[in-house]
Amino acid sequence: MTRRWSIGIVGAGRSRNGLGPFLSRACELHGLSVTGIAGSNLARTAMVAASMATEFGHAVVAHADTAALVGSGIDALVIASPVEQHASALRLALHARLPVLCEKPLVAPGDFLASQEIIEGFAQCKILLFENCQWPFVLPAFFALYPNVRPALVQRIAMRLSPGEPGPAMVQDSLSHLLSVLQAVLPDTCEPHLISAVLLDGADVEAERFLRVELAAAGRQLVLELHLRCCATQPRPAWLSLDGDRMDRQIGPGYAITFTAGERSIPCEDPLPLCVAAFARALKSDTLELRETALHAVRVRSHLYRAIMDLVGFH
Ligand SMILES: NC(=O)c1ccc[n+]([C@@H]2O[C@H](COP(=O)([O-])OP(=O)(O)OC[C@H]3O[C@@H](n4cnc5c(N)ncnc54)[C@H](OP(=O)(O)O)[C@@H]3O)[C@@H](O)[C@H]2O)c1
Repeated sequence: MTRRWSIGIVGAGRSRNGLGPFLSRACELHGLSVTGIAGSNLARTAMVAASMATEFGHAVVAHADTAALVGSGIDALVIASPVEQHASALRLALHARLPVLCEKPLVAPGDFLASQEIIEGFAQCKILLFENCQWPFVLPAFFALYPNVRPALVQRIAMRLSPGEPGPAMVQDSLSHLLSVLQAVLPDTCEPHLISAVLLDGADVEAERFLRVELAAAGRQLVLELHLRCCATQPRPAWLSLDGDRMDRQIGPGYAITFTAGERSIPCEDPLPLCVAAFARALKSDTLELRETALHAVRVRSHLYRAIMDLVGFH
């Protein structure tokens, strides 16, 4: 019989934009059993655990806190709690030698120093560390719409994203997505060199931001653009453009995703379960190479994220 891995989720519910419920479903779909969860409030955590137990048809234990969850004998931890809690949860997982799938961004700006030490800890112990950046998983739709675009030649990557809440956190919440798409068009081993980063306010200072980043990587110079406009309601507008060719995301009933380019359109699988599937594959295969590739991606992204945030004044 195939082994089902036992997963713990910290932040399994949803108070604002958390993806815990979707991550838990994706885990179950890909052979990972959510056996325990933790949150900030045991009564609420117990309600989420009861609803998951009904949905998944097996017991889900509500733990009083992340430390209790991490010590409960789980095989891996999913961190879906607000970003301010990521560093402490990552530390607990590292201490317990648990593989982790962590929501983006890996840590809050106040924990940048700690994050370096945490990532190196995972590297030294050769433990799997994944960040939930799902946009690279929609790139097959892009290349189906634009078959002539060659990843190895891309020089300009632009994204429009629509954070749910206005304010400075919009950039903090969205930057990992842009960087993960950059990494997806570069060789796995590439370490981009940051040249400049500028953050401009939009007409509505609180709700619109524009970030422009220049960097050098894989023998070419690249420009990244992040167009942010706050949107409180779903479906939130989003598009991705490589070298000026753009696809727009449409979300239909049942979260059916389609990308359109002019008159053309292509259905696209929900990238979140695809990202969880990649984590599950790496977890189950237990291959050092996969762990090292995943860790390298997190290390490079985290380094760039921090350098860009420093340049635009978020410390
Ligand atoms: N990949 C993506 O596209 C995407 C999209 C949206 C969000 N996210 C990321 O998901 C993460 C969470 O988003 P959010 O901040 O909006 O989440 P949220 O919905 O406010 O909270 C998510 C869960 O975390 C729990 N929680 C709150 N405080 C906690 C604490 N101190 N310790 C443990 N659990 C706690 C909440 O339950 P209780 O309050 O009951 O504890 C809730 O179940 C962020 O890193 C965000 O960037 C990613």
